[in-house]
Amino acid sequence: MPMNRAHRKLCSSEEWARTTKERLLPWALEHVDLGEDVLEIGPGYGANLRVLVDQVPRVTAAEIDEGTARLLQDKWGDRARILHADGARLPLSEGDFDSVVCFTMLHHVPTSAHQDGIFTEAYRVLRPGGVFAGSDSLDSFRFRVLHLGDTRNTLDPGTLAERLRRAGFAEVSVDRHAEANALRFRGRRE
Ligand SMILES: C[S@@+](CC[C@H](N)C(=O)[O-])C[C@H]1O[C@@H](n2cnc3c(N)ncnc32)[C@H](O)[C@@H]1O
Repeated sequence: MPMNRAHRKLCSSEEWARTTKERLLPWALEHVDLGEDVLEIGPGYGANLRVLVDQVPRVTAAEIDEGTARLLQDKWGDRARILHADGARLPLSEGDFDSVVCFTMLHHVPTSAHQDGIFTEAYRVLRPGGVFAGSDSLDSFRFRVLHLGDTRNTLDPGTLAERLRRAGFAEVSVDRHAEANALRFRGRRE
């Protein structure tokens, strides 16, 4: 689902890249060991990808929007493997990754069943011991305005842990950021 113009402008801005790098990622990945092989689902314009390529030896990114995947390939294709793919149908083998991450993208996935499909695929492509971690925004008035005409399927913090467990994850945690109106989650493939 393409994003509206204001939203695209924000997601591709230096301001968003800075916010992600300095505030969002350190919180979302606190105490998370990404290992040697990380997969990012829904990288958008690469605000997180550009940080991950400096932190992890091998980075793969799966982006559903073809034009965005092409932009990423042009910009980061020499440092990351870019796939034009749905995170719920990954063209990847089982157990290839030490970590799978996604940030500020699950609310763009139109149905809960599709989100659950992403959780199941994240689990499948992780090695035993691997971690699935990420964060997303919660609903607010500003968030609704930003998403006028866009998909806005925000996660319910009350049911997310159970959904991750149903996808197979152990050691699941979900917690909210006091000020940022966001949640972060973790789960491990045993
Ligand atoms: C709001 S952007 C966030 C991008 C980036 N994670 C960030 O924080 O800047 C959401 C991105 O997720 C992508 N996306 C949505 N559904 C997806 C899916 N099922 N698989 C892979 N990417 C998806 C969208 O095309 C878009 O580029």
